[in-house]
Amino acid sequence: MLLTLCYLVGSVTFILGLKMLSNPATARRGNLIAAGGMTLAIAGTIFLYEDEGGHKLGNYGWIFGGLAVGAVIGTLAAKRVKMTAMPEMVSLFNGMGGACAALISVVEFDHLMHAYQSISPMVFGEAIPTGFLIIILLGLIIGSVSFAGSMIAWGKLNGRIKDFSFKGQHIFNLLLMAVIVALSIYLIGWMPANSLLLFYVIFALSLLYGVFFVFPIGGADMPVVISLLNSFTGVAAACGGFLYDNKVMLTGGILVGAAGTLLTILMCKAMNRSLANVLIGSFGGGAAKSGSTGSKDQGSYKEISLSDAAVVMTYANKVFIVPGYGLAVAQAQHACHELEKLLESKGVEVKYAIHPVAGRMPGHMNVLLAEADVSYDKLLEMEQANEEFSTTDVVLILGANDVVNPAAKTDPSSPIYGMPVLDVELAKNCIVNKRSMKPGYAGIENDLFFQPKTSMLFGDAKKVLQDLVAEIKNL
Ligand code: TAP
Repeated sequence: MLLTLCYLVGSVTFILGLKMLSNPATARRGNLIAAGGMTLAIAGTIFLYEDEGGHKLGNYGWIFGGLAVGAVIGTLAAKRVKMTAMPEMVSLFNGMGGACAALISVVEFDHLMHAYQSISPMVFGEAIPTGFLIIILLGLIIGSVSFAGSMIAWGKLNGRIKDFSFKGQHIFNLLLMAVIVALSIYLIGWMPANSLLLFYVIFALSLLYGVFFVFPIGGADMPVVISLLNSFTGVAAACGGFLYDNKVMLTGGILVGAAGTLLTILMCKAMNRSLANVLIGSFGGGAAKSGSTGSKDQGSYKEISLSDAAVVMTYANKVFIVPGYGLAVAQAQHACHELEKLLESKGVEVKYAIHPVAGRMPGHMNVLLAEADVSYDKLLEMEQANEEFSTTDVVLILGANDVVNPAAKTDPSSPIYGMPVLDVELAKNCIVNKRSMKPGYAGIENDLFFQPKTSMLFGDAKKVLQDLVAEIKNL
């Protein structure tokens, strides 16, 4: 009874936490509440669970040893991780979830084999509950794919593993999955004498599938893949919930699975790409990344000096800051907040325009700016910001490129055509800060840089912002 109550409270905190994560102002608290619920559910299981024979869990040395090791590694990793390396860490942790789900299946299959073999070896095949076996195999396959895929994604994101594909790989992947499904059906339907071996073959092939599934995907598409793998882990964990008839595990798994799926869909929508295009497309690959350094057919770009930029912004009524991936790379969020405060002290209205896929992971810019204590109500989502650009004097674009590329609206041949973008060209002036004329993630030119109202302010975002602050102070 008390254990059921712990699970109920745990489940409610997961839902509440997830809801609170949708707003930057409540996200931190939401995370803590859900973590509190998880602690309660774990503690409840350790101390209150009893099986049908009234036995408690036992093995406390192993359990608390594992908890201690995990807690120390998790805390250190979370404290040390750089904001730009966050997708890597999410991938690694997600992979661990997938591995746990797969290991649960390995353990439970072993239990199943022993239990039924000892009862009656003669009726072994028929006696095994099919539903139970299906869930074990689902947890094994999905968990293994998620683990192996997440490890490859982690390696790709930190540069240890390079993109790799071969001709016909997608067909190979489909065939591999077909073999896994066929072997699983055979195992469930017939339970042959060598079932254990077959089970481990399915395990190994699933790991292999996870590797080949992620290998060909363009390195920069990893956040979408990680979100998809995250939803796989959720489903695999839910399978564990079914196996143990554990409601909180089931709820948690379903929530992770659903949230991961929704996030994957939202990211694809915000990039105007289908999931198939992300998985097969190798978007933003090397070929297009030549970049120009000087002029383009339609004219040349113009530069602005730091002092001129300082003057234009100080005498503006309204300034919009558009943060992008480069701001994260430069770790310029604090300098950016300083500029914002300084301009406001001079009577300028300053707001931020946040594109849903600015940066390299969902909510990247929100988290980055929150770290520098930028007030949440200054962050405008794309639709709101687009309504305000026509009444804006200066848009300062900091290390953003694709999310302000007008080709998404005007050039049907562009790979980003149809992707919703920030209409920064509606403002009176655009100042673009980046280090060179090199393209961004999509590997394409940006016509905005060549428009008459745009001026380029070259340099590392942090250095440029610090210098701008110094210039404005001297005005
Ligand atoms: P990008 O288009 O990648 O442009 C970033 C720009 O920052 C680059 O052009 C780079 O130019 C500049 N930069 C790099 N380091 C800098 C530094 N230290 N100081 C100043 N500038 C620097 O970024 P974006 O506009 O934020 O667009 C995001 C892209 O990522 C979109 O195409 C989106 O589809 C994709 N994507 C996003 C997500 C999520 S969920 N956010 C997931 C997958 C893919 P220089 O090299 O010339 O400096």
